[in-house]
Amino acid sequence: MIKTKDILTLDELDKKEIIQTIDLAIKLKKDLKKGISKPLLKNKTLAMIFQKPSTRTRISFETGMFQLGGHAINLSSQDLQISRGETIEDTAKTLSRYVDVVMARVYDHSTVEMLAENATIPVINGLSNSYHPCQILADLMTIKEKKGKLDGLHLAWIGDGNNVCNSMMIGCSKVGISMSIATPKEFGPNQSLVKDCKKLVDIDLSQDPQKAAKNADVIVTDTFVSIHDDPKRIKKFLPKYQVNTALMSKAKKSCIFMHCLPAKRDQEVTSSVIDGPQSVVWDEAENRLHSQKALLASLDI
Ligand code: CP
Ligand code: NVA
Repeated sequence: MIKTKDILTLDELDKKEIIQTIDLAIKLKKDLKKGISKPLLKNKTLAMIFQKPSTRTRISFETGMFQLGGHAINLSSQDLQISRGETIEDTAKTLSRYVDVVMARVYDHSTVEMLAENATIPVINGLSNSYHPCQILADLMTIKEKKGKLDGLHLAWIGDGNNVCNSMMIGCSKVGISMSIATPKEFGPNQSLVKDCKKLVDIDLSQDPQKAAKNADVIVTDTFVSIHDDPKRIKKFLPKYQVNTALMSKAKKSCIFMHCLPAKRDQEVTSSVIDGPQSVVWDEAENRLHSQKALLASLDI
């Protein structure tokens, strides 16, 4: 069981809780493939609020709730009275009287914080401009499946120091994965978070993707233009920060390539890499389902 009520950044979970959630996710995945599906959330309802589009998050949460014996309601913010000025606080209090858990994908991180403060039920961040905790649970699960361990590995993050990178630093530092992060100077990760995470593992920051990729067990990138970003920023990244076969060759031979998706092919990653033998992106996408089921089953819902 997870002690915290809400999952907003991933920092709410300690190392033991992250490992237990991943191990449960691996078990639920094996069970599902054998046709076993326990109704761990029978008659429970998840409300999903989307201020931004989603493919994986929406479908994996909704399918996950169904497989656990519960159900999910999909709400774009346009469907809610929020669009006509009802406050986040009042929305959180109302939802708490109907449903058992809320997942929200928002612009400002303060919106999920406000939901969490005012809801009496758990609130899960399904991506904000600053964090994407559910993605990192799936990523750590994928790394554990592929490498058989987490502690002692080295992960290179190439490209934008964005929301996914911030939660990646939190997750990796808790489970003992060191990191090298190569980003343009003005697009680095959250500095105070870097400082905190560096207390737990080595994190090297640079503007040098070649150096960052060296000896990596895992190379990860993400879009250079997140949903909330100005598309003009792309010119600061290309061609230097693209993950291509030449960059992959700097890493260990056994290195895997990861990307939370959606990918912009031939921008942050070439098709030769994302479709190549080192890519694990489809397992990573699948693992959103299993890891979120494990998370939902471990929260006090
Ligand atoms: N990785 C991820 O969160 O994908 P979606 O935006 O499709 O939900
Ligand atoms: N960094 C991306 C992740 C999408 C899943 C974004 O925020 O758009």
